[in-house]
Order: sequence, then C-alpha cells, then structure tokens
Amino acid sequence: MSGTANLFESIAELPLLPHSRIDRAVGETLAKLCALANVRTIIEVGTYLGMGSTQVFCRALPPEGRLYCVDTFCVDMVRYQRPHDPHYHAFLSNMKQTGAAAKIVPVRMTSLEASRALAVTADLVFIDGDHGKAAVLADIAAWRPHVRPGGILCGDDYNVATCPEVTPAVQHALPEHQVEGRVWWVTV
Ligand SMILES: C[S@@+](CC[C@H](N)C(=O)[O-])C[C@H]1O[C@@H](n2cnc3c(N)ncnc32)[C@H](O)[C@@H]1O
Repeated sequence: MSGTANLFESIAELPLLPHSRIDRAVGETLAKLCALANVRTIIEVGTYLGMGSTQVFCRALPPEGRLYCVDTFCVDMVRYQRPHDPHYHAFLSNMKQTGAAAKIVPVRMTSLEASRALAVTADLVFIDGDHGKAAVLADIAAWRPHVRPGGILCGDDYNVATCPEVTPAVQHALPEHQVEGRVWWVTV
C-alpha cells in the first residue's frame, strides 16, 4: 500500500456535499479526450473539492492510473499554507468517500510551483486553475512540457462569460486549438 493511501485512510470523513458537480456536456468532452489520449497519467491543475473534473478523470483512468491534483486547496489564496484548511480536508474526505483515493496524488502547491516540482509526464494535462489571462498563459507555458508527445493539453471555461480572459489567452498561446462546448484542447 502506498504512502498516499495511508494519508487517505487517516482522514476523518466529512459530510459529502454536492459542491462542483460537473456540467454533463463538459464531462462527456473530458471523457472523450481521456479516451483519445489513452490515459494512464493525468495532471489536473485546479481541483477544488474534487467533485467535478476529478471524478470524470478518475472514472476514465485504469485501476493503476494516477491523477495528480494540483491546487492550493484554499479558495482564498491569501490563506495558502494554513495547516488545517477545511478546503483541503474536504477534498481528501471526498476522495476517500467517492472511491477515487487510490488513483489520486494530492499536490498542494500553486500551479507554477507544481510545474517545477513534478517530474511527471502525463497523457493529459487539464488547466482549470487561475482564469486570468496572464495566469492561463503561464499555465500553458509551464504545463505543455509535461504532456507526452501525442498527448492532450486542455482546459475549461472557453467562451464562458464569467471567465472572459481564458479565450484570448488560449487563442494567443495555442492558435491551433480545438473547442467543444467550453472545453479547449490541443494535441501536443
Ligand atoms: C474552477 S476551480 C476548479 C474546479 C474543478 N476543476 C472542478 O471541475 O470542480 C479552480 C481551482 O483552482 C485553484 N487555483 C486557482 N489558482 C491557482 C493556482 N495559481 N495554483 C493552484 N491552484 C489554483 C483554486 O483553489 C480552485 O480550487
């Protein structure tokens, strides 16, 4: 049993709240991209409570697959690194209760810290963290090298009115991108 499994075993379970269940069309598109990339290893940048894209990715992965969940696990970034943050506890509890824990590697860092710290090449990297233009550009530049040749770099919230900076960032950095609904992607 891995050390990560021991982490989940030791977590006190919280009520399983239905926060951030994913839009059905987005879930279907992400599942399709996972199949296209024949996923064994996925990096998710922006996990929140693990009840949205995280669940789609865990279902798509084979039993031995791994999902690296990169997030500060603190909605308020100012509180980053507080040792007993309830957001992180809720995430761990959710992973334990949904059966996803065996495939999950929590990476509690900022996106750019994690991009430097992780020596991982993934079949698919999903960007859904900071939605500002500079941050999306930085995430694309930082995470593209983590995608294996032929793998997929993708992200959420394209053409979404509440996230107006995502689309211009993707258009600038990846003019070859494709879009389905609000999911953008490129094959690397
Ligand atoms: C839109 S939510 C992710 C939703 C999730 N993918 C889902 O489907 O439920 C964005 C998440 O990104 C995280 N985040 C924002 N900026 C970040 C950064 N620079 N580094 C790491 N995580 C970040 C936030 O803590 C938040 O949990």
